[in-house]
Amino acid sequence: MGRNFRRAGAAVLAALTTTALVACSSEQAPQAEENGGGGDDAATETISIGFSQVGAESGWRAANTKSIQDTLTAENGFDLKFSDAQQKQENQIQAIRSYIQQGVDVIAFSPVVETGWDAVLEEAKAASIPVILTDRAVDSEDESLYESFIGSDFVLEGEMAGDWAVEQYDGEGFKAVELQGTTGAAPMIDRQQGFADAIAGSDIEMIDSQTGNFTRTEGKQVMEGFLQKYDDIDLVFAHNDDMGLGAIEAIEAAGKVPGKDIKIITVDAVKDGMQALADGKINYIVECNPLLGPDLAEIAKKVVAGEEVQKRIVVEDQAFDQEAAKEALPDRQYCRARRVVGGAARRRARHGTGRTDRQHGTVQHGS
Ligand code: AHR
Repeated sequence: MGRNFRRAGAAVLAALTTTALVACSSEQAPQAEENGGGGDDAATETISIGFSQVGAESGWRAANTKSIQDTLTAENGFDLKFSDAQQKQENQIQAIRSYIQQGVDVIAFSPVVETGWDAVLEEAKAASIPVILTDRAVDSEDESLYESFIGSDFVLEGEMAGDWAVEQYDGEGFKAVELQGTTGAAPMIDRQQGFADAIAGSDIEMIDSQTGNFTRTEGKQVMEGFLQKYDDIDLVFAHNDDMGLGAIEAIEAAGKVPGKDIKIITVDAVKDGMQALADGKINYIVECNPLLGPDLAEIAKKVVAGEEVQKRIVVEDQAFDQEAAKEALPDRQYCRARRVVGGAARRRARHGTGRTDRQHGTVQHGS
């Protein structure tokens, strides 16, 4: 039901998320909201919150950790207990159990993989400690095990990447390879599905797909293997920028030109990825917005105050080609998302496809 819930989540959301090829706006949300506004009455007492982070595998993760640590501050009414699970589920379970023992007010975590959470979530529920999921989903049938799930629509990210590939390269008989994220992680499963759905019916052929575990080092290693195995790769779809950046190194070492001989599409839009896009080494990036701290703060305050919260909060993502990256780079920061209409999502909305019905949710940031 957890995955089904994600699929159906759009139905309970207030508005249609649409995406566009736009540069990141410099518009800032009001300061109170940036710092986790909402639930103001509850801010008078300090909220103890235990947060179990996936790890430090990528530039995205670093930005996400910073957002959480910068937002859940004492000044903003929080006592944050933060732990890094080093990409290991057992470490996350241990951290959550420790937060339960400490009797924190709220537990939040970004699950490294989707499966295997029910037992520890039951323990949190038995201890009457509310749980908030950030960034990644769990596949728990029982949705009462968590209060809310805040994060991007990963299937849509994969679709946006695949739609652009089709727009640019269909008809050229491209052979593609995929650098997957961590096996069993929600963004790995969903981005793979979204991309496959989008290229189905085109003549782009996915000839191989392996995990690079969302890291630059493993992305490079997997790409080296692909380059030894195949001499006709036209396109790489990397589930994050870091693996795409690793692939660039492997492609250059093999004497080919990334972005020209082999096109590269990635997800995240961290600064290094955007620089590579502006330099022409990456061809397209779909953003995954890591600034989840303010939403987490707001939802945590509401949950502690006993207020209703939305079960699913979808964060809007944008996409960038080379020109958009050049424009955005000088003051590139992850901005609070805004609602824009354009590109593939607008087309799907117009045609009323199942994907639009299934996936596109609302945007909470600053709106
Ligand atoms: O869950 C979000 C993903 O995790 C990001 O896309 C990736 O960079 C990170 O490791």
